[in-house]
Amino acid sequence: MRLFLIASLILAVGASTELEQWETFKQTYGKSYKSIAEEEKRFTIFKENVEHIAKHHEKYKNGESTFTMEINEFADMTDGEYNALFTFQPIGSFKDEYGLKNVANVRNLPTSVDWRKKGAVSELVRSTGGCGASWAFSATAAVEAQLYIKKGNLTLLSPQDLIDCANATFGNHGCYEGSAINAFNYIRRFGIVSEKQYGYEARQGACRQRGVGVRISGFTKIPSYDEQSLLIAAATIGPVSVAIDASSLKFYRSGIIDNYSGCRSEFRYLNFEAIIVAYDADSWTLKNCWGPYWGENGYFRLQRNTNTCGVALRAAYPVL
Ligand SMILES: *[C@@H]1O[C@H](CO)[C@@H](O)[C@H](O)[C@H]1NC(C)=O
Ligand SMILES: *[C@@H]1O[C@H](CO)[C@@H](O)[C@H](O)[C@H]1NC(C)=O
Ligand SMILES: *[C@@H]1O[C@H](CO)[C@@H](O)[C@H](O)[C@H]1NC(C)=O
Repeated sequence: MRLFLIASLILAVGASTELEQWETFKQTYGKSYKSIAEEEKRFTIFKENVEHIAKHHEKYKNGESTFTMEINEFADMTDGEYNALFTFQPIGSFKDEYGLKNVANVRNLPTSVDWRKKGAVSELVRSTGGCGASWAFSATAAVEAQLYIKKGNLTLLSPQDLIDCANATFGNHGCYEGSAINAFNYIRRFGIVSEKQYGYEARQGACRQRGVGVRISGFTKIPSYDEQSLLIAAATIGPVSVAIDASSLKFYRSGIIDNYSGCRSEFRYLNFEAIIVAYDADSWTLKNCWGPYWGENGYFRLQRNTNTCGVALRAAYPVL
């Protein structure tokens, strides 16, 4: 009897904790559901995700993983639903004459570089606000950095300009899919204006202006699978836009995502873009566009030299 009482007390405490966590989650991310049935379904998924995160935490504590996880805005989604948010597929075969250059071979590279410390990366970590245009944020940050490196002036440029104007003609589809390389092609031809001139709306609309602002002369596409060239570019040129498989970012909180984290390293799984802003002996540091509260203050790290999440498959930087 006594045992039974204690057991049910523990159960009750456990249950209330989960409910409390659920309420906190809903409040934090402004979640509301159409029906009680829908909320029950979401709560069930949430509990499964909480358990998954707890199991991952055990692995981390046992030294079997190099990164940590936390509950975030994706905690009421299944993996399938999360992956469906990202529909980016590799587009084109890089036949563009402006994209085919080799990175010069450089020896004696620094063991670590951080373009944030050099002032080439805006302190603002942007948020896509539910629009899946990571490609536009990656491209914008890359051009901002080159402008800073060449001209010493860090000006926020407009991802919305790209979302609206670097459209299907350039192989991009607004909030659904696109690539930084396609965006560079657009910026080469038409330019990109500042954030001030063309504010963010988190949806695709009609192109408001075209053919002004900053132009680039082209871009350099780093040969796929060539992580040494990627390193040379990240050390000597500046931040590099990359495509990855985003599946390991779902509950990422901190640390280094490795080649065994579940993300895949093949072309057909690339579904997201970010930008390499730093590296050290073990990892790449990438800036994301999910706001400053996600991951390591908006950033995440990937293991180096294992093509983790496909980071070395589709990397490029703009040339002013
Ligand atoms: C930096 O760029 C902005 C926008 O293009 C411009 O208004 C400003 O004058 C520039 N500042 C410097 C120091 O060049
Ligand atoms: C892309 O935008 C341009 C300029 O607004 C427009 O003329 C063109 O029709 C658009 N192309 C597509 C495929 O939507
Ligand atoms: C990455 O992990 C996969 C298995 O998930 C393995 O097949 C592959 O060889 C690894 N790649 C490297 C470069 O370690």
